[in-house]
Amino acid sequence: MLMRRDNVRVCIPRFLQIGKGSLSELPNIISSIGNIKSPLIVTDKQMVALGYIDKIKTILSSTNLVISVFDETLPDPTDTVVLKGVELVHKNNSDCVIGFGGGSPIDTAKAISAMAKFSKNIQDYKPPGTFDKQGLPIIAIPTTAGTGSEVTHHAVIIDSRNKEKISCRGEGFVPQAAIVDYELTMSKPRRLTIDNAMDTLTHAIEAYVSKKATPFSDRMALDTIRLVTNNIYKVDKDPKDIKAREELMLAATLGGLAFTNASICLVHAMSRPLGSNFKIPHGLSNAMLLPTITEFSILSAQNKYAECSRVGSFSLKDDNDEIACKKLIDGLYKMNKDFDVPSIKTFGTNQKEFERELENMAKDAEISGAPNLNPRVPSVEEMIILYRKAWEPLGESC
Ligand SMILES: NC(=O)c1ccc[n+]([C@@H]2O[C@H](COP(=O)([O-])OP(=O)(O)OC[C@H]3O[C@@H](n4cnc5c(N)ncnc54)[C@H](O)[C@@H]3O)[C@@H](O)[C@H]2O)c1
Ligand SMILES: [Fe+2]
Repeated sequence: MLMRRDNVRVCIPRFLQIGKGSLSELPNIISSIGNIKSPLIVTDKQMVALGYIDKIKTILSSTNLVISVFDETLPDPTDTVVLKGVELVHKNNSDCVIGFGGGSPIDTAKAISAMAKFSKNIQDYKPPGTFDKQGLPIIAIPTTAGTGSEVTHHAVIIDSRNKEKISCRGEGFVPQAAIVDYELTMSKPRRLTIDNAMDTLTHAIEAYVSKKATPFSDRMALDTIRLVTNNIYKVDKDPKDIKAREELMLAATLGGLAFTNASICLVHAMSRPLGSNFKIPHGLSNAMLLPTITEFSILSAQNKYAECSRVGSFSLKDDNDEIACKKLIDGLYKMNKDFDVPSIKTFGTNQKEFERELENMAKDAEISGAPNLNPRVPSVEEMIILYRKAWEPLGESC
């Protein structure tokens, strides 16, 4: 049953600078936020090595800002890394954080923003509570075209004590401004490009079928699905296809707006424990699970999945719901084959450890609350069966 929400509160960044070359608008964005003297750029070593941080310093050289850089963020950030960044904020009297990179540096910046002013214990930000206070101003500059973190009210951080991947949420994690410049994604290698696009596709499908979907999130979710499926094969054929890169970047931001105003569901709930336990990159673990979980859920929201299928050109416009759903499942398995997405097994996961962690992973997924928003709500036992199925999926549709 869909829970109808008659009206919804939407919280989005005050400024979105979007398009080619928009990074050069950073000085204007900073002055629009006002009263910023000493920003901290939160990024990773790869961004430094690719020359992006030097480029930002050059762009900001005409200002009087005192810039410092924290480049120690890692994929799938932990609270330990966040606290190192908080130390630097206090040492340098930073008054703003600029998250530059993929979802990991942006989420790290969000958590630094909160923990520099409020609790330093990540468990205090754990759902179902929300963090709605105002930390340091956050500017998000994505370089991956995947997570949509630049517009979302989420910050995904691992508690290093128990490996729990916590999707902290609340209005305090919404950036004040975001710069969405697809030129920053041109340096991405193939695997990252595909995994990010699959993350975006998963956000959109999950937002659309979520029990918290709204007419507002639906529009963006459907557009996101169309943009991803129109462009993912193009960019795989020609990584320099500027138009395809631009549309995938737009999809990531729209997908972020879609799921942050609806929700993610079972795929993300089960994907996060795979990331924290087996270091499977976020987009990749979503892609591994998406066909299997769609197959499990599809009969509980056949008309919605059928619409995803038609909009994403998995099926024809006049295919009936049943046929459209079958083609969606076949199409998702085919995408994984076409884009060399490994199974959990072929990724190199240790089977004994996988079996040992299964129950904990399923329980972690349940605690996140997201499975309850899935069209079909699984038990812990069913999630264990789904993990085992995704270990080495047969690729059969129901
Ligand atoms: N906050 C949210 O709303 C939200 C939503 C979805 C996912 N996430 C989180 O985001 C994280 C994943 O982020 P991600 O997939 O963007 O990747 P990431 O930030 O973890 O980066 C992955 C790798 O890609 C490299 N990279 C980034 N941009 C590049 C570029 N332009 N060229 C070359 N290399 C580049 C990085 O240096 C890094 O080595 C996970 O922790 C996930 O849980 C957050
Ligand atoms: Fe995601």
